[in-house]
Amino acid sequence: SLAGFPVGVAVNAGFENNSIINSGSSAQQQAVVFPNFNQMTAGNIMKMGYLHPQENTFTFDQADQFISFANANGIEVHGHTLIWHADYQVPSFMTNYSGDFAAMLKNHVQTIVGHFQGRVVSWDVVNEALADDGQATVDNILCSTLFSQRMGHDFIDQSFINARAIDPQVDLFYNDYNIEAGGQKTANLLALVDGMRSRSVPITGVGFQMHVTIDWPNITAIESSLKAIADRGLKVKISELDVSMKSAYTSFTPEAASRQQQRYHEIIAAYLRAVPPAQRAGITVWGVWDADSWINQPGSPDWPLLFDANFQAKPALQGFKDALVGN
Ligand code: G3I
Repeated sequence: SLAGFPVGVAVNAGFENNSIINSGSSAQQQAVVFPNFNQMTAGNIMKMGYLHPQENTFTFDQADQFISFANANGIEVHGHTLIWHADYQVPSFMTNYSGDFAAMLKNHVQTIVGHFQGRVVSWDVVNEALADDGQATVDNILCSTLFSQRMGHDFIDQSFINARAIDPQVDLFYNDYNIEAGGQKTANLLALVDGMRSRSVPITGVGFQMHVTIDWPNITAIESSLKAIADRGLKVKISELDVSMKSAYTSFTPEAASRQQQRYHEIIAAYLRAVPPAQRAGITVWGVWDADSWINQPGSPDWPLLFDANFQAKPALQGFKDALVGN
């Protein structure tokens, strides 16, 4: 890699349309992914509902195939995600679980971490547990979910401890969105992390998803939020980067492309300023090409990624690469 740290991309695999492994667009995806990225994240197939659909059933086939494919092509894998409360990701057996909830969750975490030990470099242990600004909270900072209702902040502490007990090597991340904006949610992130560290919970780092727009958050807030985590000695990952344009553009004009190039450049440059080399867990873009982005919806088009609908490199890729080498 140009960078000296992982440069990653989220991809479809397994059951999904447009799998990078075996779909109509696989060859086109591979042609742009292999030369530009050295890490991949599964956009969906390593979420809890897919890996652990029933209490005593774990389904690892799709993820195993994905990791073998990645490793065979010299690409490492970041695991996403052990725990996420989103309705469509929580296995239904967990929702009304009547047994020992903490023991059940421990088995979930340890079975998955154990299965993938040595084949993923890092895990998002907990995804999106912090309350959004203005939302009701549990323990003052967490959003109210199945997991926080059952266990308070202990669901986070215990999941990191349980993951570390199984795998002494793998990097363990807390991952969230809008924590780069410098508002209440960033303050809550720091409170979460400081609390975990004061209780000796084994967190390696923080994943800043960074689903940003062309003009929000401002770059000063982004840089100081990244730096606040780096200053605590933790690793910093930009884990789901995309730059939405639709708040400002209804079509992807040359001017939009040029502004997006600058936006990618300023974000990567801010990361390099804020995070010392040994703490750089890398930068991952959330999707390969614009037509497949989660933000690009029928009736609400968007152009957030580095490659266009025809798999051609956009100016954004040049901005990304220039920043990596300090140009
Ligand atoms: O595969 C089914 C298909 O059979 C069905 O016909 C179709 C109908 O809706 O759904 C397909 O599954 C979809 C799945 O993506 C596979 O592509 C789900 O509905 C859809 O909800 C799911 O969306 C994903 C979303 O997370 C929810 O898990 C997005 O692709 C993925 O980009 C998005 O990623 C999240 C991160 O995990 C966490 N951070 C935010 C980020 C963006 O929302």
